[in-house]
Amino acid sequence: MPGPREAEDARDRKMKKRMKRKNESKREPETELRGKPVSVSRSEMTEIVLPAQTNPLGKLLGGQVMHLVDMAGALAAHRHSNSYVVTASVDYIDFRNPVNLGEIVNFKSQVNRVFHTSMEVGVEVYSENAMTGERKHTTTAYVTFVAIDEHTRKPKMVPPLILKTAEERRRFREAAERRKTRLALRYGTDRKRGE
Ligand SMILES: CC(C)(COP(=O)(O)OP(=O)(O)OC[C@H]1O[C@@H](n2cnc3c(N)ncnc32)[C@H](O)[C@@H]1OP(=O)(O)O)[C@@H](O)C(=O)NCCC(=O)NCCS
Repeated sequence: MPGPREAEDARDRKMKKRMKRKNESKREPETELRGKPVSVSRSEMTEIVLPAQTNPLGKLLGGQVMHLVDMAGALAAHRHSNSYVVTASVDYIDFRNPVNLGEIVNFKSQVNRVFHTSMEVGVEVYSENAMTGERKHTTTAYVTFVAIDEHTRKPKMVPPLILKTAEERRRFREAAERRKTRLALRYGTDRKRGE
């Protein structure tokens, strides 16, 4: 049977252990997240345009392109964050050239910049005529995804991005400008969020 002194020591040890656990759980998760290179998120998706996806002129519907852009973007965000992600906004998408019935359409995506819980993903779309081999850049889009904790269903921190090339650094810089605009639209210019 432990004496009062031993019992007190055991209580102290237990308390110290509990405090240590508490402090560890309070630590900012971002300090524990290791950076990942852009190449980890780089994704590619290929589709062939079928009649149900086209308008009466035989061109791929804009709504279909947007859906596929969202999917291709989510792949990159999912890969970078290893988390569930939701689409927070699509702030830029343009259609430079139509995609025709029967053509192959390629979606290329990558994380351009990580903020805290959100990431900007760039998606580029190319059409390819398999009969002639001709390829065209048809669409560019910027989509922001937020990583969601699988238990709390709340936004969670995303690992930082490691930049290796001049092109990656350019995309990273430009993403900051786009974020200013999209957050001003969401929260108003008087509220600074996450800057
Ligand atoms: C996106 C969402 C998670 C943001 O949640 P919230 O409670 O507003 O959280 P916060 O204000 O803390 O913002 C979280 C992050 O989202 C970013 N965000 C919010 N709205 C945004 C927008 N319109 N554009 C870009 N980023 C946005 C914030 O900047 C913040 O990023 P940061 O942590 O990197 O700084 C929430 O609004 C939501 O769940 N929306 C619905 C998403 C959805 O259903 N999408 C379609 C199906 S996938």
